[in-house]
Amino acid sequence: MYKMSKAPLLTAVQIQERIEALAAQIAPCDFDVILSVLTGGFMFTTDLCRHIATPKLQVAFIKASSYGNSTESSGELKISGLEHLNIRGKKVLVIDDILDSGNTMKELVHKLADFGAKELKTCVLLNKPARRAVDFNVDFVGFDIENKFVVGYGLDYANDYRTLPEIWTLEEA
Ligand code: IMP
Ligand code: MG
Repeated sequence: MYKMSKAPLLTAVQIQERIEALAAQIAPCDFDVILSVLTGGFMFTTDLCRHIATPKLQVAFIKASSYGNSTESSGELKISGLEHLNIRGKKVLVIDDILDSGNTMKELVHKLADFGAKELKTCVLLNKPARRAVDFNVDFVGFDIENKFVVGYGLDYANDYRTLPEIWTLEEA
C-alpha cells in the first residue's frame, strides 16, 4: 500500500514558473511539431504549449507504456500511434513526463529515426539522474529530482493521481 507525502515535492506554482522558463528556452528553437508521449505527458504538454503559442506549432500524440500497475517498469515497452505520424522534414520536440531509466525515450528516439524528421529533440518535466540505466542525453529538463516514485501532474500509480496539479512523492503506507 502507498500513500502520498504530506507536502508536495513540487507545488503547482513551482511547476508553472519552471514551465514558463522552459517555454522561453524552447520557443526560439522554432519546432514544427510537439510530439507528446501519453498518458503521463498530457498535462505538461498542454501547459508548455500554452506558453509557446505560435500559429505554426503542431501537436501530435503517441502512447508509450511499460509500467502496468507497479512502481517498477515491466521492461517491455509498447508504443502505439506511430501509424499516422508524419514528421518527415520537420523539427520535432518529443515531450514526456519523466526520464527514469531512460529506456522509453531512448527506444522512442531510435524508432522515430526512421520517420525522417529534420531535427529530433527531447524534453521532460522531471529527470531522475540516479536511475539512469542507459546512455541518453535529454535536451530540455524541468526539474532534476531524487530517486523517489512521484505522482501527480500527469504521472500515475496504477492510473490514479494524474489530475493533481502538484507533484507528490508516493511512500509505503
Ligand atoms: P523510463 O523508461 O524508465 O525512463 O521510464 C519512463 C516512464 O516510466 C515515464 O514515462 C513514466 O510513465 C514512468 N515513470 C518513471 N518513473 C516514474 C515515477 O516516479 N512516477 C510515475 N511514473 C514514472
Ligand atoms: Mg509515461
